[in-house]
Amino acid sequence: MKVLLINGSPHQSGCTYTALSEVAAVLNEEGVRTEILQIGSKPIQGCVACHRCEGQGRCVFSDLANAALEKMEQCDGLIVGSPVYYAAPNGALISLLNRMFYAGSAGLAHKPGAAVVSARRAGTTSALNVLNEYFTNAQMPVVSSRYWNMVHGSTPDEVRRDLEGMQVMRALGHNMAWLLKVIRAGQDIPRAPLEPRQRTNFIR
Ligand SMILES: Cc1cc2nc3c(=O)[nH]c(=O)nc-3n(C[C@H](O)[C@H](O)[C@H](O)COP(=O)(O)O)c2cc1C
Repeated sequence: MKVLLINGSPHQSGCTYTALSEVAAVLNEEGVRTEILQIGSKPIQGCVACHRCEGQGRCVFSDLANAALEKMEQCDGLIVGSPVYYAAPNGALISLLNRMFYAGSAGLAHKPGAAVVSARRAGTTSALNVLNEYFTNAQMPVVSSRYWNMVHGSTPDEVRRDLEGMQVMRALGHNMAWLLKVIRAGQDIPRAPLEPRQRTNFIR
């Protein structure tokens, strides 16, 4: 079993990475392999609503969004980490997730997802809410912890001193590992086929 962790921060070894690493360490202890995908500091293309991804499973811009979708074919779960920017996930991460999920959500369905955020002080729950929307739109079970999945700090050292936040990360790792094992144990349980999609727009 394997979990992909996306670090949305431009800081490769910053606060978000510190939180994700704590989750990853627990997953590894539990026998779940992990990979951290860094989105880095280069600009990331936003969705241009060309709809050329429809039925393709991939975005027309072949960059990190498609790379993440390809990695997810080999992964059983997804964790998305973000620094909090103005009470929301950082913009580059949103650009990535919009294209990744719009193009490839069918391939993500039924794989558990979890969001993790890092903030100096505030805006954590609104940022978490935005990230969780991607999972709940894509039929992904959302994994929680004993508190909301957040750490606080401006530096990795401050995050490590957020003892409660780090504990929340470890509980998240255990919960993700447990759910992956439960899903594996129940893999022979059939799922009802989806009905043909109804799109009821509000203006007719
Ligand atoms: C543009 C920008 C906006 C930010 N907005 C917030 C905010 O709304 N609330 C907050 O507590 N911290 C805010 N911060 C601080 C970061 O979220 C925080 O330091 C985070 O832990 C950095 O994570 P990183 O090291 O993984 O990048 C902001 C930082 C930047 C650069």
